Amino acid sequence: MTGLKIENVSMRFDLPDGGAVQALKDISIDLQPGELLSVLGPSGCGKTTLLNIVAGFLAPTAGQITLNGKRVHGPGPERGMVFQQGALFEWMNVRENVGFGPRMKGMAAKPKAEIVNHLLDVVGLRDFKDKAVYELSGGMQQRVALARCLANEPDVILMDEPLGALDALTREKMQGLVLKLWKETGKTIVLITHSVEEALLLGERLIVMAPRPGRIHK
Ligand SMILES: Nc1ncnc2c1ncn2[C@@H]1O[C@H](COP(=O)(O)OP(=O)(O)OP(=O)(O)O)[C@@H](O)[C@H]1O
Ligand SMILES: [Mg+2]
Repeated sequence: MTGLKIENVSMRFDLPDGGAVQALKDISIDLQPGELLSVLGPSGCGKTTLLNIVAGFLAPTAGQITLNGKRVHGPGPERGMVFQQGALFEWMNVRENVGFGPRMKGMAAKPKAEIVNHLLDVVGLRDFKDKAVYELSGGMQQRVALARCLANEPDVILMDEPLGALDALTREKMQGLVLKLWKETGKTIVLITHSVEEALLLGERLIVMAPRPGRIHK
């Protein structure tokens, strides 16, 4: 009963004009704890929709998600999301962004600060902890987003093209960081990417999706 189970998930978006988009059709994926899955597919094939369903932001029109035997009905801290870009809280500094999850859990200031410091060390941003989000480069922002996600101690990390907006060199560095984190923490990771190279480099398993309707091609 452990691991992430995506069972026969379909998603249809009903449009205001009476039409509909079948974004996903009958997707089933079984992930063991600690697996790193890359999902590759052309624009519009339903990758983000699939992640949003696993995250619990969207309810599928058919099928179900279970994590460690528990049915997913909405968002939860055991499933962390790292978005493509721009998902940090702009009104909080780096330290506050990373400490957001622990604060919401009601954690005391001292253990919270320890977690934040540790994670900022992990992503190499300790010296930036009092900076505002706008003072950081895109790559730094993504590292903060990763640290903020890890602070919730999720079982599963969902990454929607987290490195898509970065330049080639920063991207390579971040790929190394993701790989290192995965090896050290043993988290289950689902990573969406447009890059074949990245999918092969990072993924232990690789799924290729096809569009209209979004389904697993290979
Ligand atoms: N809220 C929505 N309402 C209507 N249609 C939607 C909605 N969200 C997604 N879609 C449609 O569902 C399909 C899949 O979209 P999705 O964002 O999942 O694609 P994607 O694979 O993530 O693409 P990209 O690689 O460009 O990010 C698209 O045809 C899109 O237009
Ligand atoms: Mg997308």
